[in-house]
Amino acid sequence: MTSKRTPFQQIKQTIQDQKILPAHLISLLPKRWKRVGKVGILNLNPELLPWKREIGEKYLEFLPELKTVAHKVGITTTTTRQPDNEVLAGEPNTVTLHKELGCKFWIDALNLTFSNGNHAERQRMIKNCQEPEQIIDMFACVGNLSLPIAVHNPTVKIIGIEINPDAFMFLEKNIQENQVKEQYQAVLGDNRKLTPKDWANRVLMGYFTIDNVQFKIALASLRQERGGIIHAHGLSSSRKPTDWRPQIQTVIEESFPHLTIKTSNTRTIKTVAPGINHYVNDLEIQTTTSNN
Ligand SMILES: C[S@@+](CC[C@H](N)C(=O)[O-])C[C@H]1O[C@@H](n2cnc3c(N)ncnc32)[C@H](O)[C@@H]1O
Repeated sequence: MTSKRTPFQQIKQTIQDQKILPAHLISLLPKRWKRVGKVGILNLNPELLPWKREIGEKYLEFLPELKTVAHKVGITTTTTRQPDNEVLAGEPNTVTLHKELGCKFWIDALNLTFSNGNHAERQRMIKNCQEPEQIIDMFACVGNLSLPIAVHNPTVKIIGIEINPDAFMFLEKNIQENQVKEQYQAVLGDNRKLTPKDWANRVLMGYFTIDNVQFKIALASLRQERGGIIHAHGLSSSRKPTDWRPQIQTVIEESFPHLTIKTSNTRTIKTVAPGINHYVNDLEIQTTTSNN
């Protein structure tokens, strides 16, 4: 009886048999890849780049669930967090439907961010948001973090703000696709100008370079007589996990004397590079007059 080989074993064997790569480079083939809908994204070792298209064709051949194979060219640096990816094989149109946690996300997987490593955080947000809440997602993208909350809790109201018109177009499409338009309002533009004041009991800040202006906006968006929770993401070393408390404390002292930080907890979401982690810092903000 022959044991069933994994797609990766078949890819590797075929590349070896067909002598697509010099033998000493075979071990560098990626065993894992990111998958968003029907788009697979490889992170190729630079030594493999001269053969990137042939490699892409082989991954496509043995991964029938994919319509396109791409690879990650560089790091994501722009404000709109658009990844630097390149199509290697298959359909050049990389718009795809990604299904996760009972949600449907239409996205252009080549040009917009959707991190599989944030899956547990999406789950945690669903679990934490069971009450009839008012939530602002200041960095909504295509609804990555906040859309699942609306899908799983019909009593929440969400305002999602997104500055990139391409991501916003998919956010609007996803609101329709998931039938949450009574609950989810999408806003196109800069959260520094468009975040409502005195409305939310929870604010999602899923972005790595948050500034004090945005913390001030987030604090102002909370219901001023009640406070709420801010989930502020960040990238930092594993030795020094993200802790936004000092920055937020400064903003509170300058502009919100009636607010105080009750608790601040940080959890790791994923490792993004050796020694560098993506964290989320949950900050519970309350009014100084509250007895809670
Ligand atoms: C890295 S993505 C994160 C998406 C999602 N929050 C998550 O954590 O998976 C950040 C998104 O914030 C948007 N963005 C960046 N600056 C913004 C601003 N000032 N106002 C509104 N959206 C902004 C970017 O265009 C991008 O789509």
